[in-house]
Amino acid sequence: MSCAPSLAPFLVLLVLLVSLVVFQRPDFTTSHSVLTAISSSSSSSSSKLNHNAAVVPASPVGSDEPFIRPSVNLSTQHTERKEGRLEQGLARARAAIRWAALSRNYTSDKEETFIPRGPIYRNPLASYIEMEKRFKIWTYREGEPPLVHSGPHNSIYAVEGHLISELGDDGEEKSPFSARRPEDAHAFFLPFSVANVVEYVYKPVVPRTYKPLRRFARDYVRVVAERHPYWRRSGGADHFMAACHDWGPAATRSHPEFFGNLIRVVCNANASEGFDPQRDVSLPEVYIVDRRLSPPDSVKPPSQRPMLAFFAGGSHGYIREALLRHWKGKDEEVVVHEYLPKGGPSYGELMGKSRYCLCPSGYEVASPRVVEAIYAGCVPVIISEAYVLPFSDVLDWSQLSVTVPVERIAEIKDILKAVPDGRYRKMQKRVVQVQRHFVLNRPARRFDVINMVLHSLWLRRLNLRLGY
Ligand SMILES: *[C@@H]1O[C@H](CO)[C@@H](O)[C@H](O)[C@H]1NC(C)=O
Ligand SMILES: *[C@@H]1O[C@H](CO)[C@@H](O)[C@H](O)[C@H]1NC(C)=O
Ligand SMILES: *[C@@H]1O[C@H](CO)[C@@H](O)[C@H](O)[C@H]1NC(C)=O
Repeated sequence: MSCAPSLAPFLVLLVLLVSLVVFQRPDFTTSHSVLTAISSSSSSSSSKLNHNAAVVPASPVGSDEPFIRPSVNLSTQHTERKEGRLEQGLARARAAIRWAALSRNYTSDKEETFIPRGPIYRNPLASYIEMEKRFKIWTYREGEPPLVHSGPHNSIYAVEGHLISELGDDGEEKSPFSARRPEDAHAFFLPFSVANVVEYVYKPVVPRTYKPLRRFARDYVRVVAERHPYWRRSGGADHFMAACHDWGPAATRSHPEFFGNLIRVVCNANASEGFDPQRDVSLPEVYIVDRRLSPPDSVKPPSQRPMLAFFAGGSHGYIREALLRHWKGKDEEVVVHEYLPKGGPSYGELMGKSRYCLCPSGYEVASPRVVEAIYAGCVPVIISEAYVLPFSDVLDWSQLSVTVPVERIAEIKDILKAVPDGRYRKMQKRVVQVQRHFVLNRPARRFDVINMVLHSLWLRRLNLRLGY
């Protein structure tokens, strides 16, 4: 009995030692714990997460297999130099994030204008503060517009073009995350635009095959890999491409031996089609009209939202077909149109008057409606399969949206009516609270959509140890 108290300090020491050893494994390892926060499509896994585990990028304890399999043997390549300068910086960032979680001190040196708080966040984003201190991205200069260094700034694919411009060299204001030299970069951007390739390469041809797109992406990477040492040294693991066009993932899906490690930042985040939530980044689809980066208008409170649910859109794909079959023109509370009646209230007005906004997948999983609903202060109802929602690594979507499985589309009304009013009001407030993460600014601002995407990228980079 008397040994119990004397054992306690020893146990604490043991735990500390083990975590230290695990944390400092120098070889090419990947860490799961930040990213185990990301569940594929359901947001209900939040309960499994403990606060600290979500933020601390520990090594893959208990996992046999790193989630990125490098095509080159990194462990032999870099043994002689051991931890390089960049890796040392990343190690300090990991330690700072870990320390912030342990001490629950999330203040940074900056004058804080916004501190993420509350149940919508899986962690208080100490990792964001570290990103601002350290993260540097090198954008390759190879290639010419319009296929490279430019992308659409309008349309539902606009976020693709804005990301390319933001990280590119064309603006007067350089992104604070742009590396001055590639030697300083933690991540490397391949700034080609899938939307522009489809637009300019395909227009004369009938776009029935991915072949020209795939050839283009492969050729681009070949050039980059021949001219610079960076692709080869990581097997592409610290490289990323960004695309909002539906074909984004298809550009690099073939040739796994070549593209197997690349981080794909895509709107079409379909986990059934090779989107890997631990390696890839789900990009929010932001519909931009006339280059207006429309910030959210004033939002109506729940008391001024007479409609229960709203949707208007074409019969694109099996999910929308099911939705329209069950609900189109059938109900006064669940208002579903294929096309809005002429002369009536606009799409935006209807979203603003509705408690819930239905966001079914179309031909592809992503829908600009998720962001539109958030702008309108309307609680999104996610109807999709295998869609990995944007920022699932930091946002707990179950706190601000409702998920309706495709096979329960007929029950939408019952499901929404069963949500208690108090719960609805909380969700609606949180929707308004997360608006800033979905607003597109140029140049980007703290915690806006571009910087949150970079933060998702930063988390994935933190989970890699590349030895330089
Ligand atoms: C990488 O190199 C290490 C050390 O030489 C070796 O033990 C390991 O088997 C190699 N891995 C692969 C995948 O070739
Ligand atoms: C929290 O961290 C900041 C920055 O490292 C430091 O200046 C501050 O003193 C810490 N606050 C507490 C209460 O420990
Ligand atoms: C997601 O991928 C699966 C597998 O290819 C496909 O069957 C499904 O239609 C895709 N989802 C959407 C909404 O396109």
